[in-house]
Amino acid sequence: MSEKATLNYNGNTYEFPVITGSENEKAIDIKTLRSVTGGLTTIDPGYKNTGSCQSAITFLDGEKGILRYRGYSIEELAEKADFLEVAYLLIFGELPNEEQLKSFHVDIKNESHVDEEMKKILDAFPKSAHPMGVLSSLTSALIAFNPVSVNVTSNDEMYGAIVRILAKFPVLVAWTLRKKKGLPLDYGDDSLGYVENIHKMMFKKPTKEYEKNKIVIEALDKLLILHADHEQNCSTSTVRIVGSSHAGLFASLSAGISALWGPLHGGANQAVLEMLEAIEADGGDTKKYMAKAKDKSDPFRLMGFGHRVYKNFDPRAKIIKVAAEEVLNDLGIEDPILEVAKGLAKEALEDQYFIDRKLYPNVDFYSGIIYRSLGIPTEMFTVMFALGRLPGWIAQWREMRLRNEPIGRPRQNYIGENHRPFVEVAKR
Ligand code: CMC
Repeated sequence: MSEKATLNYNGNTYEFPVITGSENEKAIDIKTLRSVTGGLTTIDPGYKNTGSCQSAITFLDGEKGILRYRGYSIEELAEKADFLEVAYLLIFGELPNEEQLKSFHVDIKNESHVDEEMKKILDAFPKSAHPMGVLSSLTSALIAFNPVSVNVTSNDEMYGAIVRILAKFPVLVAWTLRKKKGLPLDYGDDSLGYVENIHKMMFKKPTKEYEKNKIVIEALDKLLILHADHEQNCSTSTVRIVGSSHAGLFASLSAGISALWGPLHGGANQAVLEMLEAIEADGGDTKKYMAKAKDKSDPFRLMGFGHRVYKNFDPRAKIIKVAAEEVLNDLGIEDPILEVAKGLAKEALEDQYFIDRKLYPNVDFYSGIIYRSLGIPTEMFTVMFALGRLPGWIAQWREMRLRNEPIGRPRQNYIGENHRPFVEVAKR
């Protein structure tokens, strides 16, 4: 028998169906709430209890620390798959066979040219511009050079838009970095793997041959996989809600990049490293910063700790912590920042304030340490997150459009002035 939830209000009783997801997650379906109650809405700041959609892409269980893309565990994917396979999986629902993967990659390579006029837009930015602002603008500007709006009911058009952005976005990422460093803007190398090509585009020196470093590429691949999707987080919800107005894929992605930029979301990886550097420069006194984080009159938060959904541990942080140590070891780097990070994590995990609030290191706590060891400038960290999240955003946008979801338009509870007469300026 199907379950129901009952609401008693104003002497009336209303019943709402309870729906069950494939992992037995229950949700009260309140689609008819306003119509049957005569206008009652719900209030849920930050949507802490509100499901905006049903989705078949990513499952996460914050209590148990489980994260799965299309049913595959993040641990297994990070160990056995590469980023392009994971992108295909997220977007199209199944792991590609060899032939599908090969043609997916060829199709991407065939679209990897970015209109040269885009360089003029990039040139207009000062070198000091934050790369996330530049990337968001460039992604939006791409629309002007790829003006075909996607007919989402056509598989070919949908596929075309997807490979186009997967091809061009890494070029924009590389250009954003190269502009900052004053390096010439260049294109990729079709003979390389997807991630290796990205690395080459970012770091190739004009006067030197590019040398592949297997450790670096593997670490980068793993980081991108770990960031590839995370169900209805702030930036993904932004992509879905912008796309729900039938704005195009690139416009929706550009909005997602802006949402990711914030320090409470993707921008935390930059904020973590800046925090660790500051603690190090201040003599490495982690206790002092722990006290600041707990002091309610101090706005300081321990960046890289806490998560809206994970209340036990962040499985991505576990994998990244090990990877960070391996990469630093393999590259022979001794980074004092890692010691500060370890000290801080140990203290926080034993501290009652953090235990009570279930605050654990999140994905961003260790990722910056790896990015730094790979030679990626701190300001580019969130851009790397965006690069990893791209397939997730695309998958979520595609799912939303294919299901023909209604335009995202929350309600509010008005608490402003009641109706009052207009007063002429001279009489105010
Ligand atoms: N340091 C100190 N106290 C914290 C922290 C922190 N990092 N995070 C949460 N708290 C406290 C908060 O003050 C509150 O305390 P109280 O109950 O006494 O008022 C309690 O813990 C609950 O916090 P909240 O802000 O209500 O929790 P939330 O679910 O709304 O926010 C969060 C989640 C990730 C925004 C928050 O934990 C935070 O700001 N963390 C630091 C930023 C960060 O690392 N963000 C990256 C998230 S992972 C990457 C991604 O997916 O975007």
